[in-house]
Amino acid sequence: MRPPADAIGTLSLIVGGIALLIFIGVEAALLYAIWRYRASRSAGEAATFDRNRRLEIAWTAAPALILAVIFVLTLGAMAEINGAGIAPAMRITGTGHQWWWEFSYDGTKIANELHIPVATPIDLDLVSADVIHSFWVPELGPKMDMLPGSTNHLRLFARRTGSFEGQCAEFCGVEHAWMRIRVIVESQSDFETWLAAQRLPAAVKGSEGERVLLSNICVNCHTIRGTAAAGTAGPDLTHVGARATIGAGVLPNDVARMRAWLADPQRYKPGSLMPRVPLSDADLDALAAYLGSLR
Ligand code: CUA
Repeated sequence: MRPPADAIGTLSLIVGGIALLIFIGVEAALLYAIWRYRASRSAGEAATFDRNRRLEIAWTAAPALILAVIFVLTLGAMAEINGAGIAPAMRITGTGHQWWWEFSYDGTKIANELHIPVATPIDLDLVSADVIHSFWVPELGPKMDMLPGSTNHLRLFARRTGSFEGQCAEFCGVEHAWMRIRVIVESQSDFETWLAAQRLPAAVKGSEGERVLLSNICVNCHTIRGTAAAGTAGPDLTHVGARATIGAGVLPNDVARMRAWLADPQRYKPGSLMPRVPLSDADLDALAAYLGSLR
């Protein structure tokens, strides 16, 4: 199969080509009529027109035929986009949250980054935890709404490895714009290595930063597998240090920026549901270092 985005691209070119031909035809007829029936030729007499039944039939039938052709091509593209009988190699659940993404690989949860193997049909089961969001990675496939209370499906297929950017495409509140998706397409072996690492519990145990996290309200919202932190309102942080960004794209992820984010999330993502937790400088240092070490 080929990426669903390719089917959309092909259909767009065909429809665009037809529209271009119609545009040229209409403009040519217009220019001809302006030239043929210009006032200087008719010398004061009003132009007269006779009924032309064949012409009327033609300009009724031609658009109907063109629309029928586009309709059939669209049905074909829709079938291809939906997978067209090719079974997916894997199902991943994607959940939209205000304002971040959660991707669950059989219960192993990753925030804001979707890893998939290259040249492999993947089906996403898309849901929402709160309001309507829309999953959209333009280079890989169509938009698909994420609705509270029902599941939508989206076929993904990537032809080449690399990083693909996406964005929530349905206005979902104040931080809608900072709801970025990053799809990382890897070779099958790289993907399996990554997923096996993600499935492991937290890499670091007994650090000062872990103590800070477990003794503050962080645990109400965040899970770190292997520790007592088991909140589900916010992103799973078990391997947060391995991710490229903080806050669904607002900051690159390194220890210095993590510390700045923890010190005042509202400064970087106003309206975010992550509160400012009052922590001492020493606690912030320890917590940021700990989260950075969770790779
Ligand atoms: Cu989520 Cu816009």
